[in-house]
Amino acid sequence: MNSKIYAYDTVKSTNDLAKEKAPGLKNGDIIWALSQTSGRGKGKRSWYSPKGGLWFSIVFKPQRLSKDPNVYTKMASIAVVNVLKRFKVKEVGVKWPNDIYHGKEKLGGILTEILSQGKNHTVIVGVGLNVNNELPEDLPNVTSLFKITGEKISVPQLLKRVSSEIKRLYNFITSGKRNVITNLWRNAVITKKGSEIKVIEHSGKEYHATVVKVLSNSLIVEHDGVRERVHPSEIFFG
Ligand code: BTN
Repeated sequence: MNSKIYAYDTVKSTNDLAKEKAPGLKNGDIIWALSQTSGRGKGKRSWYSPKGGLWFSIVFKPQRLSKDPNVYTKMASIAVVNVLKRFKVKEVGVKWPNDIYHGKEKLGGILTEILSQGKNHTVIVGVGLNVNNELPEDLPNVTSLFKITGEKISVPQLLKRVSSEIKRLYNFITSGKRNVITNLWRNAVITKKGSEIKVIEHSGKEYHATVVKVLSNSLIVEHDGVRERVHPSEIFFG
């Protein structure tokens, strides 16, 4: 893939800039910023992105959009987990569907956005990872690679490794091997079969439950002998 990295000091959001520049970008191009002033997380939440973290968006222009658009998010989260394991960061995994966790603390997240115009599709995969940066004070349960390892890790080196791992995994999607990603992802999720979790349903109902099955877009859990299908956003720890 003959792609480019467009590097910036500060931008509003690398996903937004990738959207703006999308018509002129090629498959695999990257928008990378040292800091973001309006970084975005899922559900319209803001994403604290000071200097020292890894904040980038990688752009893909698939000829056909995958039947499971979540596969792009899965691909990126597995890539981050694979690279971190090589950096000897253990206990790292994916919390359904797009969060990167270390134990019970959030280390990063993925924000995938898809633009479609007729048969032309642009997939923007935004990756945010707390590396050496300060963490938001008002959020509990967040961590950084520095906090975990006590060492400063080179952000450009991480960018290189994570982005090439994303591109390697992307080839499985374009060559009709989407199931490879689904299987890798199933092994990377921290809410595996048998995990004890807390469910807070959108209706407000709360209970502790055990994961019975990991499906590709939901989980089956059991509590007090009852099985329920829950949405990833209804799952918590503790
Ligand atoms: C989440 O966990 O809610 C997803 C967070 C995604 C943050 C990244 S940082 C780079 C890219 N640009 C953004 O504005 N957001 C994503």
